[in-house]
Order: sequence, then C-alpha cells, then structure tokens
Amino acid sequence: MVAKLLDGKKTSAKYVESFKSLIERVKLKYKKVPKLTVILVGENPASLIYVKNKQKRCEEIGISSEVIRLKKDVSQKKLLEVISKLNKDKKVNGVLVQLPLPSHIDEEVIINAVSPEKDVDGFNVINKGKLFIGDKSGFIPCTPLGILKMLGNYKIKIDGKKVVVLGRSFIVGKPMAELMLQNNATVTICHSHTKNLKDITKSADILISAMGVKAGMIKSSYVKDGAVVVDVAMIRNPATNKLVGDVDFKSVSKIASYMTPVPGGVGPMTIAMLMNNTIKAFLTQNNIENEDTQI
Ligand code: GUN
Repeated sequence: MVAKLLDGKKTSAKYVESFKSLIERVKLKYKKVPKLTVILVGENPASLIYVKNKQKRCEEIGISSEVIRLKKDVSQKKLLEVISKLNKDKKVNGVLVQLPLPSHIDEEVIINAVSPEKDVDGFNVINKGKLFIGDKSGFIPCTPLGILKMLGNYKIKIDGKKVVVLGRSFIVGKPMAELMLQNNATVTICHSHTKNLKDITKSADILISAMGVKAGMIKSSYVKDGAVVVDVAMIRNPATNKLVGDVDFKSVSKIASYMTPVPGGVGPMTIAMLMNNTIKAFLTQNNIENEDTQI
C-alpha cells in the first residue's frame, strides 16, 4: 500500500476536544449548553445506528440531546406540528429530521419546515441558498463540510485541482461540488447517466465518491496514480455484515496518494460537523461571540 490514510477518527478527535473545552467555558460563563433534538420516524436500521452515534457524540462533548421517536405511519401534519413546536422552543438550538422519511411524507416540505436558524443539517432552502452565494451565516451540510476539513487537516491543496464528485444528492454531491468550486477547484459531477465514467474519474486529482450503489465498484482502473480518494459510501456487505464503501480499498490503496478508510473515514467527520453546526446555532441564537475560529 502506498496511500496514506485520511483518518476521520483521529481528525475528528481534534474537533471533539476543542468543542468540549468550548462548551465547558460557555457553561461556566452562561450557565447553559447547546441542545440538539433529532426526530426519528420509523425503524430504519441504518438510521437507528446513525442517531445513536450522534447522541453518543453529543454526550461526550457536553451537548444536551433528545431523540423524538415517531411511528413510521405518523402523518405529515403531526410531524409538522412536532417541528413547529421545536422551532418555537428556546431551549432547542438544533433540529434534525433523520432521513430517509417514509414515502407518504414529502421530505422537501419537512426539511423546509425546520427553522433555518435551527437547521443544523443545512438542508433548508435558505441554507442551501446561503451556501451557493457564499454567505457564511448559514449552515453547510455536515458530510461535505467534514470532507473539506479533513482535506485541510492533511494539507491537501484544492486550488487549481481537478475534482470529480460521484453523486448529485443535496446531502453530499451538490454541496461538495460547490465547496470545491469555492476553493478554486475545477469540478465535474458524475451521476447515474454519466457516459464513460472511467475516463472522467481517471482524470481526477481528487476523487470524491458518494454513490452507495455497488460496493467496491471504483477499482484502481478508475483512479489516476497519486490521486486523493474520498469514499463517502457506507454499504453493509450482507455476507460479512461489514461496512464497505464505493471504492475497492485493496487495489486503489496501491496507487492513491491519500484515501479514506470505510468505516473510520468520512463518517466520524460528519458527526463532528453536526456538533460544529449545533454549537454555531447555539452561539448565534444566544448572541455569544464565537471565540473558536474553527466554527
Ligand atoms: N440520512 C443520511 N445522511 C443524513 C444526514 O446527513 N442528515 C439527516 N438528517 N439524515 C441523513
């Protein structure tokens, strides 16, 4: 293996430590801590794990957290009522509706019902707009923000580089491409209709894969020698029950310069950035000056 690991566990631990001490200081001075409320509809096994991990991290940092669990047949009206109550609750700083939602619920309506000031996911139309005009007062979606911070932590240059993003979701692909563009990369977004995928990925200095369709489909033949490869996907292999990504780690790690493992790469950075956004929401809502330049 030649690739150096982009270690999400190690990198996120630095953020966790600085958030912890920030919250301790804020708690002493203002006698309150940030609060994140997560709404979980139904029993999606992956969502249950994600929500549990978010809660664990909150606890570790000193953020107060609450999970509101609703049955999978909950009406859209009832869900909107729950969100409206949280929007008005001054003790709640961040509201996150875990996705995906059951098919009878309109995800777009729900996402946009969350107050933009509490939308720590950065999915609300106001925050999407702010990201695209470069208005720093909004919230940036946690996964792309985490990837950007990870590349920064390893001093990987983005300016002038050719970046290829695989996937065009509003959770990862689109905001990721925009962040790379803002950092002066030349960006290509590929998706399920892209022709000659391999030719495009092979040209990437930085390849960010967020497809989650077929485990290990990005083989070394898709990757340029010395490229930086970031794997966002988490696919459970039914035979081994292990989590794997889009990228075939074994072959790609022989030619990439840096790459993320799955698990332990992007995942921990996503959760760290959720903590980042929750703290940002708390500080803004309480008019507390931000003394941590990272947030
Ligand atoms: N489901 C998968 N990723 C995410 C995420 O980042 N936020 C929410 N709310 N749901 C998700």
